[in-house]
Amino acid sequence: MATTSQVVDLRSDTVTKPTESMKKAMITAAIGDDVYGEDPTTNVLQQKIAELLGKEAALFVPSGTMANLIAIMVHCNKRGAEMLCGDKSHIFKRESGGGSHLAGTLTTALKNLPDGTFDIKELENHVRGTDIHEPITMMLAVENTHNACGGRVIPLDWLDKVATICKKHGLLLHMDGSRLFNASEYLREEPARLVRDCDSVSVCFSKSLGAPVGSALAGTRRFIEQARRMRKMLGGGMRQSGVLAAAALVALEETVPSLYADHKRALYLAKAINDLKLSTFTINMESQQTNIVNVHIDPKCTVTSSKVVERLAVVTSLEITSGCKTDNNEDILSLLKASNAHSIQGWRWLSDGCLVAVWWLSGSSQAYMPLKNAINENVELT
Ligand SMILES: Cc1ncc(COP(=O)(O)O)c(C=O)c1O
Repeated sequence: MATTSQVVDLRSDTVTKPTESMKKAMITAAIGDDVYGEDPTTNVLQQKIAELLGKEAALFVPSGTMANLIAIMVHCNKRGAEMLCGDKSHIFKRESGGGSHLAGTLTTALKNLPDGTFDIKELENHVRGTDIHEPITMMLAVENTHNACGGRVIPLDWLDKVATICKKHGLLLHMDGSRLFNASEYLREEPARLVRDCDSVSVCFSKSLGAPVGSALAGTRRFIEQARRMRKMLGGGMRQSGVLAAAALVALEETVPSLYADHKRALYLAKAINDLKLSTFTINMESQQTNIVNVHIDPKCTVTSSKVVERLAVVTSLEITSGCKTDNNEDILSLLKASNAHSIQGWRWLSDGCLVAVWWLSGSSQAYMPLKNAINENVELT
């Protein structure tokens, strides 16, 4: 039995705490009023993101949700505008309907395929013509990596086809690239290549990159000028935002180069769970590409994901050191969704054969399981 162990919180890649170097950068950041455009650290971050994404300009915003919403507000600027997106996309399912409520945009969802794409023909069939009875299809949003599809990386050739269709029909293409750097790492392609044909792209620093707050939106200079106005309208002008941008810069410098190790850890975890050969909890290894591990619970299983999640949230180090048993001698339910360079340092304990991770996910078909002694290989991760 492991003599050393620790709880690793893998409920989401958003639960990370800033690293020491991020904290230091935050304290020492040069700052100014960003609403005046005078915050030097934010300006450096925006410049860097624009360069990385091959776009003219970028804007630091408080969250991924705000970045996506601003993109909709800027792109869908006519009454009766319609946005197309996948039915499992974050922008459709998990952003409180902001596109409809705040941008006044009709959202039409196309059926997402398991790999996060959708059928190209279906896309084309949904682009409306000039009939005055119909809304005006103005924008398409794609997501890369695709969260609800298990962190799947969207194939480049599919993106290229989609971009061709958008051009043909005059649609603006937005990419929710909250985990774009993970996609870039997986494909070994520059982020700029992945978003080459996108009119706008959002990236998040506070997810797989481990910074405490913030996202960026990138596009043409004109798009970003309009986005800046929308950000102000939404209350997202952050004044001395350099304290946050500083951590984001560290994330770009320090976390991005280590994403390959995250993906490796996630793959190991997924493999270990599958190797348990449980009928109740399985993983689609084909989908295991980046930092998200989705465990599928057999619908016949009496344990629901929410029950599991409830239990996972209260796993303690003491329980683990007592051999992964609770006071009532029950197995501690463990596990996983997304991992992160900073939240999963505990994975180094894998060689002790004992890892207990805590995971959150609201999706009903996905959950967790016990991992005690499931992983006993000595993994070289650095
Ligand atoms: C793919 C995707 N897009 C957007 C968001 C929203 O980001 P935020 O929570 O920063 O608003 C998330 C959050 O998890 C996400 O996974």
